[in-house]
Order: sequence, then structure tokens, then C-alpha cells
Amino acid sequence: MKFFVDTAEIDQIKELNDLGMVDGVTTNPSLIAKSGRDILEVTKEICDIVDGPVSAEVVALDAETMLAEGRKLAKIADNIAVKVPLTWAGLQTCKALSDEGTMVNVTLCFSANQALLAAKAGATFISPFIGRLDDINIDGLELIEDIRTIYDNYGFDTQILAASIRSANHMSECAKIGADVATAPPAVIKNMANHVLTDKGLAGFMADIEKAGIKIL
Ligand code: E4P
Repeated sequence: MKFFVDTAEIDQIKELNDLGMVDGVTTNPSLIAKSGRDILEVTKEICDIVDGPVSAEVVALDAETMLAEGRKLAKIADNIAVKVPLTWAGLQTCKALSDEGTMVNVTLCFSANQALLAAKAGATFISPFIGRLDDINIDGLELIEDIRTIYDNYGFDTQILAASIRSANHMSECAKIGADVATAPPAVIKNMANHVLTDKGLAGFMADIEKAGIKIL
């Protein structure tokens, strides 16, 4: 499973990228607003750091303007994936951009039918939002499973990009289901390293190291 990092914070992207943990980056208008940076400027900076796909989201609602925005975003760098919402206008924009050879990430997906439409429209990525479904008591992981089944049934190339990930548990569950990509905030990716028994085991080793005066350097 590829890891995308869900942030527009340059320092955090750099830290994880240096560790080989970043196969791509996703941003959205809320993350850009949080960064306090200009969308074109910060997106360019991210594309210069990361080799993989960098999602940058359109801000218009109608297909004509979305397409113009998408074309402008696509010019930033070769690794831009234009992010469009899963609306009819978003699907129209997805089809047009895909036909031009631009990667498209269709976002705000909350149902298997929406994912089916995005694949038909030539999406490179479909972004089902797990956490926001969980928030309204609908099992977000079940949606990932359903989309996996449908895409495999018909051999769609669209990659399942599990989004709105809130916990390390979501990451391992997505990997078990077979999501192609999971995008998560840096804190969630770092939290995947934590285990209470690792901490406990290390505390025991440290006590013995001190008692025995073990030194290597
Ligand atoms: C990623 O592409 C999405 O924009 C992001 O995962 C949304 O996450 P949230 O539901 O935590 O805002």
C-alpha cells in the first residue's frame, strides 16, 4: 500500500519524505487554508520535494471553471493530480482532464456508486472518506471493501486512495482490504510506530543496561 501524506505543511512532508514514507501528498482547501500559504506557491514547493503524485484541489463548482482551474494546477508540475469533487461537474472535469493525460483524484466519495462513476470517468484515484463516514455511524472501512470488490470485478485501473484516515488502525485495516493508497495526517503515520509493549520492553532493557553498565560507544 502506498502512503500519501495528507498535509500542506512543508516541514512535516520533508521529515517523512526523508524516511521514505511518502509516495505522494494530498491537499485540500482546508489544509491549504491551515498552511496560510498561497495555493500555487505551496503546491509547487511540495512538488519539488516529492516525486509521487501531489493532489491539488479545484475551488470552482461548475465544470467549465473547474476545467480551467485544473489545467492551471496541472501546469505546476508533471506530478500534479488535479482533485475534483464527486459531483456531476466534477465527473465531467475528470473525464476531460483524464483525456488530456492529467492525473485526476476524485474526492469526497461516500458511496460505491460514486466510486463506480469516477472509474468510468477515467479517474486515476478515487478518495473514499473513511473517518467522515465513521463520524455518522456508517462503517467507512466497509466502503473501501465494497469499492475493492467492484473495481476487481471489472478490472478498473482507478486506484483506491483511502482518505479521511483518523487512526493507525485505519491504516492497517486499509492495507488488509487492499486499498492501493492511504492518505493520512503525519501524526497518524508516526503513531503507527507506537506499541505499549515496545515501550515496556525498552524500559526493561534500559534498566538492565544501567544495572550492568553495558556500553557500546
Ligand atoms: C484527503 O484527500 C482528504 O482531503 C482528507 O483525507 C480529509 O480528511 P478529514 O476528513 O480528516 O478532513
